[in-house]
Amino acid sequence: MVELEKRYARAIRDGKRVKYIYVITDFQNPTGICWSLEKRKALLAFAYAHNLLVVEDAPYREIRFLGETLPSIYQLDQQTEARGIVVNLKTFSKILVPGARVGWVMACPEIIGKLVIAKQAMDLCTNVFSQMWLAEYLKTGKIYDLIGKTCDNYREKRNFMVEMLEKYMPKRFDLSWTRPEGGLFLWISLPPYIDTDKMVPKALAEKVAYVIGSAFYFDQPEHNSMRLNFSYASHEQIEEGIRRLAKVIEAEIAAHESGPRGQTSAEDF
Ligand SMILES: Cc1ncc(COP(=O)(O)O)c(C=O)c1O
Repeated sequence: MVELEKRYARAIRDGKRVKYIYVITDFQNPTGICWSLEKRKALLAFAYAHNLLVVEDAPYREIRFLGETLPSIYQLDQQTEARGIVVNLKTFSKILVPGARVGWVMACPEIIGKLVIAKQAMDLCTNVFSQMWLAEYLKTGKIYDLIGKTCDNYREKRNFMVEMLEKYMPKRFDLSWTRPEGGLFLWISLPPYIDTDKMVPKALAEKVAYVIGSAFYFDQPEHNSMRLNFSYASHEQIEEGIRRLAKVIEAEIAAHESGPRGQTSAEDF
């Protein structure tokens, strides 16, 4: 919230007009982090105070495999007198099939009206055939079963990946990872001198790949992080992948520590 307040104040100072705040509250892509109830309430209070809309992107919300579901900011807004400032975005991509290319929006009628016009200007209409078969499928109620199975599957894979990280990664105060309660991803933070953009070719040489953390910043990227996906690979692939990745990271740390600057110093932070 402190960072949001700072950025908002800077934007206003620079003469910009802030229209809305975009957030991913449940199992964010890329970190897998889920917002606390306090943070959700604080953001909503901030939006009311500054007369801003909130766009809450929630593609992973149903994929919770641990812990308790918290109210979305959309739900919190709906419980107030002032309701109507949150737009909630949903998709079938993560709970059914990405190829359906169908999602939905929850918002007040005025905003939905504007979105319909914007959508018509863009592509006239979402694929009608996809909408028809989806509607038929949803009537069967089978999606609830599928979401349950997906959560069971991802929970197992997430737990296994975390276990393999604990087994293979160097044990250091400056190397850590998130332990998501849902979604598809976790986020690794590495010692500050490791540049994961530059490390990609070394990882590929070991036939292991990751998504560079810097790709997820709008501005001022940090370069010592990466996103890993646990939903797709088999247990065998996860173990082998993490083992290879740990080897590449260990080599980076060893090269730094034997280099001219030697051990990590306070300047690295
Ligand atoms: C945060 C976030 N929003 C939206 C999407 C897009 O979903 P869709 O497949 O419906 O375009 C993704 C997909 O990865 C995502 O991570």
